[in-house]
Amino acid sequence: MPVSDYQLISAWQQVLKLSNLEAGQTVTILTSSATNRQTLLAATVASQSMGAVVNRLDLPPVNAEKALSRDPLAYLGTTPLTGNKAAIAALKESDLVLDLMTLLFSPEQIDILKGGTKILLAVEPPEILVRTVPTEADRTRVKAAAARIAAAREMTVVSEAGTDLRCPLGEFHPISEYGFVDEPGRWDHWPSGFALTFPNEGQASGRIVIDKGDILLPQKMYCSSQIVLTVENGYATKIEGGIDADLLNEYMASFNDPEGYAISHIGWGLQPRCHWSTLGLYDREQTIGMDARAFEGNFLFSLGPNNEAGGKRTTACHIDIPLRHCTVRLDGEDMVRNGKVLDGGVK
Ligand SMILES: [Fe+2]
Repeated sequence: MPVSDYQLISAWQQVLKLSNLEAGQTVTILTSSATNRQTLLAATVASQSMGAVVNRLDLPPVNAEKALSRDPLAYLGTTPLTGNKAAIAALKESDLVLDLMTLLFSPEQIDILKGGTKILLAVEPPEILVRTVPTEADRTRVKAAAARIAAAREMTVVSEAGTDLRCPLGEFHPISEYGFVDEPGRWDHWPSGFALTFPNEGQASGRIVIDKGDILLPQKMYCSSQIVLTVENGYATKIEGGIDADLLNEYMASFNDPEGYAISHIGWGLQPRCHWSTLGLYDREQTIGMDARAFEGNFLFSLGPNNEAGGKRTTACHIDIPLRHCTVRLDGEDMVRNGKVLDGGVK
């Protein structure tokens, strides 16, 4: 559905207000060839309306010859900032970077954040952005879940489909994603609404059953058959099943990188304005699938890197897989029971 400029500008103003943008601060809007023009306009006008000094930094895209799809989250390699000292300097000198390009999990991004610059990623189309404008209540809820993760020594996940996963915790901090950047050095993604962490290096074990109707990203497909992952010493050592398992296996093998099979982030969705069914309504080119990642009550796990949390693993391969109908436990206490979050919801 089309969105009016007024509505999208208002949405950005709300996000910038939650992000504590102050008059006189410098906002740099990072763009590339796939940036949505209306989102760029709205982000620019909203930033100016709040008295910010606004720059635009437009960088040419990279990785086209390596990635097998057009999804910006599918291939995590070099970025347009790699070796680009002038661009990095501009971003480091900014109070807030609005990333309308997708600068994800790169060493350059981590370096920029260390200097106190905030980065907010926003690349979903305008109608998804206005539906998922974040709120204070989102932050409260996600931070409460992250606090539970921080105190836990183990996350376990079971499901009627057959998932039985054990992830010792404590090596990595939890991460809260609630859609705005209210602290110096914070990165977030609009839309989101989930809490996550990473299993201790090399310690996740068990079995993950991706059931019919569960979603593979960046494939952006609902599985039509079960995929069974055997998890040993932190890695998916077998990926078995029918045609969906074949598709996943062949795609992952194309990276020729054993680190792509590591269990990466684990957590659960807390965003009631995101929906499991949304992906079925969109052409794959039109979304990166944040509804699937954030819908309330999913168990979202990932295969790939852990450098986002300070780990050493970098790999170009990154698969996100939200599962329905799981029970997620921290130290034996249910946080999500059969796909329903037990925290009482957003107040
Ligand atoms: Fe991920």
